[in-house]
Amino acid sequence: MNDAKEEIRARLPIEDVVGQYIELKRAGRTLKGRSPWGVDKTPSFMVSPDKGIWHDFSANKGGDIFSFVMEVEGISFREALEKLAAQAGVELKKYSGGDLEIAKKKTRAREALEFATKYYQVCLAKNKSVCDYVFYKRNLTRNTIKDFRIGYAPKTGRALLDFLKKKGYKTPELESAGLLNQYGGDLFRGRMVIPFIDTNGNVIGYTARVLDKSEPKYLNTPETFLFNKSRYIFGLYQAKDSIRRTDYVVIVEGNMDVISSHQAGVKQAVATSGTAMTEQHLKILSRLTSDVRLAYDGDDAGIAATERAINLAGNLGINLSVISDYQGAKDPDELIQKGKDLWQKAVDNPKPAFDWLLDKYEEKLNLTTAQGKKEYSDIAIRLISYLSDPIVVKHYEQLVAKRLDVSVEDLKNKKLPTGPAHRLKPIKGGPGKPDHLKVLEDSLISIMLFGGDAGVKINLEIPEDETKLDELSLIFDTKFSTMSQKDLKSAVAEMQGRYQQEINNLKISELSAKLSTVEDNEEEYNQILREIKKLQKG
Ligand code: UTP
Ligand code: MN
Repeated sequence: MNDAKEEIRARLPIEDVVGQYIELKRAGRTLKGRSPWGVDKTPSFMVSPDKGIWHDFSANKGGDIFSFVMEVEGISFREALEKLAAQAGVELKKYSGGDLEIAKKKTRAREALEFATKYYQVCLAKNKSVCDYVFYKRNLTRNTIKDFRIGYAPKTGRALLDFLKKKGYKTPELESAGLLNQYGGDLFRGRMVIPFIDTNGNVIGYTARVLDKSEPKYLNTPETFLFNKSRYIFGLYQAKDSIRRTDYVVIVEGNMDVISSHQAGVKQAVATSGTAMTEQHLKILSRLTSDVRLAYDGDDAGIAATERAINLAGNLGINLSVISDYQGAKDPDELIQKGKDLWQKAVDNPKPAFDWLLDKYEEKLNLTTAQGKKEYSDIAIRLISYLSDPIVVKHYEQLVAKRLDVSVEDLKNKKLPTGPAHRLKPIKGGPGKPDHLKVLEDSLISIMLFGGDAGVKINLEIPEDETKLDELSLIFDTKFSTMSQKDLKSAVAEMQGRYQQEINNLKISELSAKLSTVEDNEEEYNQILREIKKLQKG
């Protein structure tokens, strides 16, 4: 595996790999460009061809060609390796002994799925009533059908099976591709089929819709060694360039909403398929953008899904908002049928997810009654516990207190000593944004390594990984190498102060998490509270 990595690295100059995504200009020994995450005002993306590494100063990421492709495409290491291996003309099989069998099986399954997709596409073109459905009932254009590779699975029960058998595929192969039902016949029958396409453009499964009112409305490929529903994001293959360019993503509920949205020109739309959003979904998207806009229904399920997303987003530095202006339509697709400008306008005017959620509960509960206020405060306290930034926490505490017509103190009293069940909930990640810490740490270590005696007192571990060391040297060259020793020293002093502060914040969040585990022990509880107070004073 490492040999393969080295071989690929040797064959692919980093400036070529990065150059496929960003325009680079030479600046001395390094190359410079704009951040692919669109977060910089001036070029802040550096590449060092000598060292084979990159660093993005605005997004605070860096590494080698593999980490670049992972970050920019939002894919796993394995996927990046496969992609770059293909570009470099390196055969991974040669290097992976044990994985060889699996890799072969995956390739066979992928090929079968590719044949199946083409077969389904032809079946659609040949069937008049299915064409009527997609073109006239769903208003899809020829281009959309082509881009999303939409097809039709015939009714007979063995049509695809027979087709693929003739191509030489055996039953176990079709089974592992997820194409068969429990009786060994075609899984999809008489349905419009929409492929799940991965970020490399390979088909890994399908979602298939009935053309009438029968049940179940959608049938999806089961989990296979190619399709993992807690990671898979429908539409990402078609959406990723737009997401990167405009720096936001729209998450809708249905696959048809994705397709309709793309056709209406909002090509940032994606959906999770046949499952609720997971942390992995959000993590993958957070590598592409931090502006995540949810377009769920305003019903109870939509409210629950939004709350879930807020909870998951806590750690990932994501800015979550909700697209809510549907003008009575039940989903984005329906809104688009009314007029695609309406959808674009809704997408352009999202509401912060937290405010949206609080408003929803305010609508549902009667805040003029004691019971309504109690329920609302319970919910609000729970929601606030998901937040990590102290300023944001304060903002919402004040807002909620005002709506309840009580003081912030009253709200906090409810939250702390009374009723153990409502004491602080564990906060994932906690106040100190780990990202800030990482930037500070990287800067300080780079100065320790390359800046001479600039007075770094904090005990930081020097990494042994060579890629990381190269990256640190690039950080030092870019940020600090032109500073006088005096300026460097004062920069170090300032950064160390901030670093200590961030560490304190982290400790506070760890202690808050611990609080909820010792709720029954009054003494220990108060002890931890005192420690938190002490740290808060700094
Ligand atoms: P919807 O019922 O809202 O479907 O389910 P939709 O996307 O609006 O589809 P149309 O417009 O009626 O054709 C939303 C999503 O829930 C999953 C699918 O992923 C669907 O896109 N779902 C729904 C299923 O997996 N199975 C079902 O039977 C229904
Ligand atoms: Mn719909």
